Amino acid sequence: MRFHLNPIKVNFPIMDNVRIRFTELFGKSDNVQHFFCPGRVNLIGEHIDYLGGLVMPSAISLGITAVIRPNKTNAITVHSTDFNETIELDLSSLPNSKQNNWCDFVLGVVLHLNQIGIEVGGCELLLDSNLPKGSGLSSSAALEVLCYFMFSCVFGGKEPNRVQMALDCQRIENEFIGVSCGIMDQFAVANGQADKAIVLNCDTLQHEIVPLDLKEYSLLIINTNKPRALAESAYNQRRKECDEALKIISVERPIENLVEATLDDLELISNPIFKKRARHALTEQLRVQKSVGVLNSGSLVEFGNLMNESHQSLRDDFEVSCAELDFVVNELQSSDSCLGARMTGAGFGGCCVALVETKRVHKLSQSLNETYKTRFNRVPEFYDCKPSNGVHIIS
Ligand code: GLA
Repeated sequence: MRFHLNPIKVNFPIMDNVRIRFTELFGKSDNVQHFFCPGRVNLIGEHIDYLGGLVMPSAISLGITAVIRPNKTNAITVHSTDFNETIELDLSSLPNSKQNNWCDFVLGVVLHLNQIGIEVGGCELLLDSNLPKGSGLSSSAALEVLCYFMFSCVFGGKEPNRVQMALDCQRIENEFIGVSCGIMDQFAVANGQADKAIVLNCDTLQHEIVPLDLKEYSLLIINTNKPRALAESAYNQRRKECDEALKIISVERPIENLVEATLDDLELISNPIFKKRARHALTEQLRVQKSVGVLNSGSLVEFGNLMNESHQSLRDDFEVSCAELDFVVNELQSSDSCLGARMTGAGFGGCCVALVETKRVHKLSQSLNETYKTRFNRVPEFYDCKPSNGVHIIS
């Protein structure tokens, strides 16, 4: 079973290993600087960031580590340990569109920073990730925000404004990479805090950092390892369907964001698909509002129920779940050591998040590992998730 308990505890060996790898690749490791950007898990508020809704993500202890050394050359030489590949970006002739490889996130950020007056210079750069890719834990946002933050510190001389950085990285993802994501992921990995969740209003960007007091419970993330086939086109399709629902309601009642509608407004929509999508958006917004209250009052049981309801709505009304996610969520929900479980992130595969009694995390993971393998002939992964700090320099 692949179980990563408390990944933060293994941070130091990881740091030593990346430094050794840097020396192997680039000769020496004097004058290097280290940076880290976490991934995120969304606790509740799914598929409503791009509808101006409320979301509640936390940054997590899994993420991407970078080792960088400026070298006054005219090229960025970047190696990814995940892809075991080195790519060189020639700064005197940077392509201005994406090249369809992992380095596009680095390239998009470099082009953007150059445009806003931060001239990114030559360097050697090693990227090392323990964040699963394409699994709903924001590996793309982590790479964008990591590069933005690191290049701003190294070549711009200061830390960037974190809210502006999140907005710029979302724009890079929308316009350069071509994925119409909302603001949640970039915002969470930029602004996360240890042991806290972020309650973010994606319309106004007003946010509150709230303590996450889970008492004798833990957040367990389960990766179905199901590849997210067609996820991008289905994601963009959901956005369009929500736009249609908004247009229909706005004829009668002018509103700017779909989440401002009321449940009664759903009667205005006759198309059953648009109606279901809108119903998810409205009920999910209500669930996040309730979650803020129940977490403040320490009622984890009620929060667990809201997580369960969120999954049901994502499965039946928004239709972004899949057999693997539903199986894992059902197994968890039927265990008395789990208060609530749901898919997290864009869906169509990827991860679930669950609130599980800490002392039974291992046992529950072991039994789920067996039943899941038998059912799908695929090995899941488990991460014990600690809410963590956003992107930072490691000194
Ligand atoms: C992806 C997107 C986010 C958000 C989630 C679903 O992670 O990048 O903006 O829409 O899906 O909540």
